Amino acid sequence: MISMLSSIKFGPDAFELRPLGVGTNSWRAKTHAGAREALLASLDAGITLIDTAEAYHSGDSERTIGRILRDSGRTAFVATKFAPMPLRLSLDSLSRALSASLERLGVERIDLYQVHWPFTLLKIERLMDRLADEVERGRVRGVGVSNYNAGQTRRAHAALAERGIPLVSNQVNYSLLHRSPEANGTLDTCRELGITLIAYTPLASGALTGKYRPGGRKPQATRRVMSAYRKLENVMPVIEDLERIGRSHDRSPAQVALNWLARQENVLPIPGAKNAQQAQDNARSIDFEISEQEAEQLDIATRPWLT
Ligand SMILES: NC(=O)c1ccc[n+]([C@@H]2O[C@H](COP(=O)([O-])OP(=O)(O)OC[C@H]3O[C@@H](n4cnc5c(N)ncnc54)[C@H](OP(=O)(O)O)[C@@H]3O)[C@@H](O)[C@H]2O)c1
Repeated sequence: MISMLSSIKFGPDAFELRPLGVGTNSWRAKTHAGAREALLASLDAGITLIDTAEAYHSGDSERTIGRILRDSGRTAFVATKFAPMPLRLSLDSLSRALSASLERLGVERIDLYQVHWPFTLLKIERLMDRLADEVERGRVRGVGVSNYNAGQTRRAHAALAERGIPLVSNQVNYSLLHRSPEANGTLDTCRELGITLIAYTPLASGALTGKYRPGGRKPQATRRVMSAYRKLENVMPVIEDLERIGRSHDRSPAQVALNWLARQENVLPIPGAKNAQQAQDNARSIDFEISEQEAEQLDIATRPWLT
């Protein structure tokens, strides 16, 4: 059997990638040592998509990635994001933001340039038109969006299609504890249009690792307000299912949770990793496959998180 998890065709030139990336919103100069370990361990394991954004620590995540790649002489498939902040009212702000990201990353072209969120006075069609200009100028290889609903995804796709450019991806919150892309039509729309759904916070900010338990070790303060952590006792039956399935494959709950996402057509999770151990563990989430029956058990156990 050919594993569905071996690769995914990605981007305008159908670049082949492993169906997993690395999220970097915790990376910055202050966490450089862990970020370096995590990035190099990911590349060693064949995971090359590194997701960042100009908004992460005011560009420090991009700067940290640029520095690690430059110092190590390694290359990666770098995805970053334009932040359409309220005061960015002209399309030139996109080109200026892109110039700044290129400089911080130390590259001449961004592999995947995503619009971070849809809330802006700039019309989707105009933004896509400017992004198409940047593809033609050679500063962007593939165009993506993030946090777009089904209708917004269609508009972005159609606007780029007028310029003969595909929409590569839509990055949204998707995990066993956040399944709304299945319920609200985003996932179906991506599949229909041939767009990869990049799943962010695929471990529900660590809740799906099973290391945080009611009354036990506590996550960072900023995470405690999140719904998965506020009702951690409701998550425990899911963790028990992940542990049971994991035992039969010699894998951890986190690896099973990532496998459940990555085995789906057109879905590419980007778990955050803070050190080499986490990066290696996450990379090993796509070298096995849970069975149909196990996937169905997880589907049933997490139906309350569909909406
Ligand atoms: N487009 C958007 O609007 C948007 C929004 C949010 C995030 N993102 C992207 O999605 C990426 C991932 O999201 P996230 O990092 O917030 O959440 P996540 O991937 O669900 O959780 C990552 C956290 O879980 C823990 N962890 C990861 N791997 C582990 C392992 N193997 N074993 C044990 N613990 C592990 C680590 O935290 P601890 O060790 O502290 O527990 C890590 O920081 C971000 O880095 C960012 O690139 C995008």
